[in-house]
Amino acid sequence: MRIDIVTIFPEFFDVLEVSLLGRARSKGLLDVRVHDLRQWTHDRHRTVDDTPYGGGAGMVMKPEPWGEALDEIVADAGSRPLIVFPSPAGEVFTQPLARRFSRTDHIVFGCGRYEGIDERVFDYAAALGDVRLVSLGDYVLNGGEVAVMAMVEAAGRLVPGVVGNPDSLVEESHEDGLLEYPSYTKPASWRDRPVPPVLLSGDHGAVDAWRREQQLERTRARRPDLLAADDSPAL
Ligand code: ADE
Repeated sequence: MRIDIVTIFPEFFDVLEVSLLGRARSKGLLDVRVHDLRQWTHDRHRTVDDTPYGGGAGMVMKPEPWGEALDEIVADAGSRPLIVFPSPAGEVFTQPLARRFSRTDHIVFGCGRYEGIDERVFDYAAALGDVRLVSLGDYVLNGGEVAVMAMVEAAGRLVPGVVGNPDSLVEESHEDGLLEYPSYTKPASWRDRPVPPVLLSGDHGAVDAWRREQQLERTRARRPDLLAADDSPAL
């Protein structure tokens, strides 16, 4: 899987070299390329933003460097990528979308800053690839970098071979539309807090039933919106 990230803060992504994703990169499972948007500017100050037409606070990212960046990356890859722009005005990122990303051969992430990117860039990008504006959640970040980091990690760990034991991906929060059940390890009692006895019973059927009930109970208490969804597993 190839991932290109265009940003004015390439050093932000240095952490992709460590941990699970770093190993996946060195094993050749993930080909992540980080680009400085300013390499596609042509003035002395390497300008990437300008004042908004119509007035208003803040600056808007200029379309020209974005156009050149997308042209070059797409030409180099030689096929039509998925082009993702993180934006608080996008569709919300979810586990199904992470899974979709993990099955995509090539994703280009364009990190906006300031008040956003000139709107014409999204229209132009649609000629080069499939464009999606994606939000991490209903809050505003200073730019797309943190959102892209989250999306790369969520999708990257679903690429076969990245996580050592694939079973660990099956029983986690959101994979079946519910929150994960609680986990315990030794000792059986810690600071007057015993592990739920069913987990020590050796009765696998009872353990499975208890875990399912815990999933439903937690989801009801913390995320009732997940149960109200049309495709809710509890319906
Ligand atoms: N950029 C700024 N806020 C964002 C958010 N909530 N999600 C994705 N990108 C963003």
